[in-house]
Amino acid sequence: MITSTFLAAAPLLLAAFAGVAEATSCNATTPCPSSAPCCSEYGFCGTDSFCLGGCNPFASNTLDSCRPEPLCKNSNFTFSDQSRILSNFTFFDGNVSAYDWTVDKGNIQNSDGSLALVLTETNGGTRISSTRYVHYGTITASLKTGRWGGVVTAFITMSDVKDEIDWEFPGGNTTQGQSNYFWQGLIPDKTNGGIHGGLTDTFSNYHDYTIDWQPDALTFSIDGKTVRTVKKTDTVDAKGVANYPTTPARIQLSLWPAGITGTPQGTVDWAGGMINWDDPDYKAAGQFYALVKSVSVQCSDSEVTTLTSNITSYVYGGNRSDTSPTILYTNKTSLLNGAGRIAPIMGGVSGSLLALGMGVILGVNALLL
Ligand SMILES: *[C@@H]1O[C@H](CO)[C@@H](O)[C@H](O)[C@H]1NC(C)=O
Ligand SMILES: *[C@@H]1O[C@H](CO)[C@@H](O)[C@H](O)[C@H]1NC(C)=O
Ligand SMILES: *[C@@H]1O[C@H](CO)[C@@H](O)[C@H](O)[C@H]1NC(C)=O
Ligand SMILES: *[C@@H]1O[C@H](CO)[C@@H](O)[C@H](O)[C@H]1NC(C)=O
Ligand SMILES: *[C@@H]1O[C@H](CO)[C@@H](O)[C@H](O)[C@H]1NC(C)=O
Ligand SMILES: *[C@@H]1O[C@H](CO)[C@@H](O)[C@H](O)[C@H]1NC(C)=O
Ligand SMILES: *[C@@H]1O[C@H](CO)[C@@H](O)[C@H](O)[C@H]1NC(C)=O
Ligand SMILES: *[C@@H]1O[C@H](CO)[C@@H](O)[C@H](O)[C@H]1NC(C)=O
Repeated sequence: MITSTFLAAAPLLLAAFAGVAEATSCNATTPCPSSAPCCSEYGFCGTDSFCLGGCNPFASNTLDSCRPEPLCKNSNFTFSDQSRILSNFTFFDGNVSAYDWTVDKGNIQNSDGSLALVLTETNGGTRISSTRYVHYGTITASLKTGRWGGVVTAFITMSDVKDEIDWEFPGGNTTQGQSNYFWQGLIPDKTNGGIHGGLTDTFSNYHDYTIDWQPDALTFSIDGKTVRTVKKTDTVDAKGVANYPTTPARIQLSLWPAGITGTPQGTVDWAGGMINWDDPDYKAAGQFYALVKSVSVQCSDSEVTTLTSNITSYVYGGNRSDTSPTILYTNKTSLLNGAGRIAPIMGGVSGSLLALGMGVILGVNALLL
């Protein structure tokens, strides 16, 4: 399932603010004009925050229209202090020294030292994104899911060209977690999803869900026990292309309403039906919620990047027509107003640079499904 679908209603709203924005849509075949050079994650052209997290380099005016993607940093975020979560992404200026996370949509709260992601009938759900990217690494979230049909809790990684790795929790079932992955937004003929049952109630108990994303394999674990491994070589398609996530990704946590009017029936069924806004939990609390206690990040490339001084970010290299996204390490600032040219100072790590064909699927926008 594509978790990002819950933001499908957001683009027009988002296009209405944040500096220069045009209600012009963009994709790899129709990139943004120079007047509004950045193609946001929602597929609209603009400036400012449109050029930060989620900005698609291949659908933007030039390959370097998007700001460089802030480098991965080993961290363990606990959420008793929420001062480093920017409450509205629109006002983010790319300063990762100031903020670790942005609220992209919705509302957060502090619940006994955990981060509450809030869903109400009017807010359309909540999503936060890390300000830094991960280019291979081990990410663990300790969380309690929702328990309501149609309400989905998610912990995912999402790249700017829509490589995606998911832990998802459809609220109708609190004894399972679902793993999934997508390559460049392509919906596979046969689902990549996995179901992992036998958990003690995921609403009442914190469990540790891990995404261990390495250049050659992707491993999903629950409470430290491996439940699934996908080898890159297992993902090679008929054309010989590995349909495997390879591009730097933000970490995203969300609680989203799948069981609402307008959602495709298959998604509603998967999520556990239409949301019951008369649920006693909703009546009592005035909201649905999921709780995140901590998120730890161990970057696979940290050894390399600390060996080379002053690396601060990732950029996409090569040329737009290349079939392979190449990721370069640079010392270029991610700040919106940071001047200067991109100066790649390193060609990347062997293995992590394995580039894949972009092919025809570049134009696919998972949000539209
Ligand atoms: C992150 O911090 C939390 C809270 O202190 C702790 O329970 C957890 O084990 C830590 N995770 C890692 C990977 O160190
Ligand atoms: C970035 O944030 C840090 C921490 O808040 C602050 O000290 C610094 O001045 C900011 N940098 C810019 C360029 O705004
Ligand atoms: C963020 O700020 C913009 C501009 O003021 C506003 O339109 C939008 O509703 C805000 N988003 C949230 C989630 O508060
Ligand atoms: C919940 O998921 C588990 C594990 O996949 C399954 O065995 C069980 O039947 C499901 N329960 C419901 C109520 O759907
Ligand atoms: C690293 O940054 C420092 C301070 O900005 C600068 O003096 C130094 O020349 C930089 N080194 C390299 C190799 O770019
Ligand atoms: C980009 O790559 C395409 C296909 O390889 C090639 O035809 C084109 O000349 C390249 N453009 C530039 C500016 O290098
Ligand atoms: C970035 O790297 C370039 C090339 O090595 C160097 O000239 C420049 O001083 C560096 N800038 C910073 C801020 O480190
Ligand atoms: C790309 O965007 C253009 C302009 O909005 C649209 O006409 C075209 O159908 C889109 N292409 C794809 C593959 O979505």
